[in-house]
Amino acid sequence: MRQRANAPTRQPVVITIDGPAGVGKSTAAKQLASHLGLIYLDTGATYRALAYAACQAGVDPRVDVKRLTTLARRLPLELLPQPSGVVQVRLNGLDITKAIRTETMSEAAAHLSRHPQVRRIMVQRQRAWAHRRGVVAEGRDTGSVVFPRAHYKFFLDAEPRVRARRRQRELFQLSGQRPSLQRIQRQLHFRDGVDRTRSIGALVKPRGAVAVNTSHLTARQVLHAILHYIPESRPPSTVHRPPLQTQKRKIRRFSQQERRHYIRR
Ligand code: DC
Repeated sequence: MRQRANAPTRQPVVITIDGPAGVGKSTAAKQLASHLGLIYLDTGATYRALAYAACQAGVDPRVDVKRLTTLARRLPLELLPQPSGVVQVRLNGLDITKAIRTETMSEAAAHLSRHPQVRRIMVQRQRAWAHRRGVVAEGRDTGSVVFPRAHYKFFLDAEPRVRARRRQRELFQLSGQRPSLQRIQRQLHFRDGVDRTRSIGALVKPRGAVAVNTSHLTARQVLHAILHYIPESRPPSTVHRPPLQTQKRKIRRFSQQERRHYIRR
């Protein structure tokens, strides 16, 4: 979706999708971005890329805060959307899309994302990605810290067993690894603990976010549920309206002008 050359300056449209691991955020965010013609920003991939760089440089993600912040500031990271829908993650020109999805990287990312100094730098870099164009951002704190003034905010959640099964499938597709469900549930439990208790950027349902329980929804149903709350978008013809745990929204709607620029008709 192109901006007209003589269009007045305005804030790019920002939509955030937060929630714990394995609730279907990535799929929903990717599909939504593609449907609305916006950029997809996977903030988890930025922490994973930093974890990868730290491991390569022999930096301990749990304690070496000084070296982590230096790495974070200089991280030569690119997120390149591919025609297939996959976003290629490149570090210094090297394709690390699959390498950052292993269990080791999940754990290292969980550790380093605890440090407030590291988060401050990563949040600045994430905002820079959305500087000029509209974005669908996905992560843990995108609606609460990174983009607190987002036009639309969503919070996805699901039952632990469902999340573990999804994560197992995702791991297998991305890296060929298939750890047991119990092992994955233990890891998710550990990562939830880290995510929910850190001093800044903790996983919370952002104020004004619409909560969607994805336990019994397909990816398509999740997308339809989200589109239902973006009234100016035109969802595919058969709109599914599942029972949602919703909260009164204080969400800014698209202006006429934003509609013209951002919503695909
Ligand atoms: O979404 P993910 O599993 O790819 O995220 C990897 C790690 O990064 C996860 O342990 C939490 C952290 N993370 C974060 O702290 N803040 C975000 N906005 C996104 C991810």
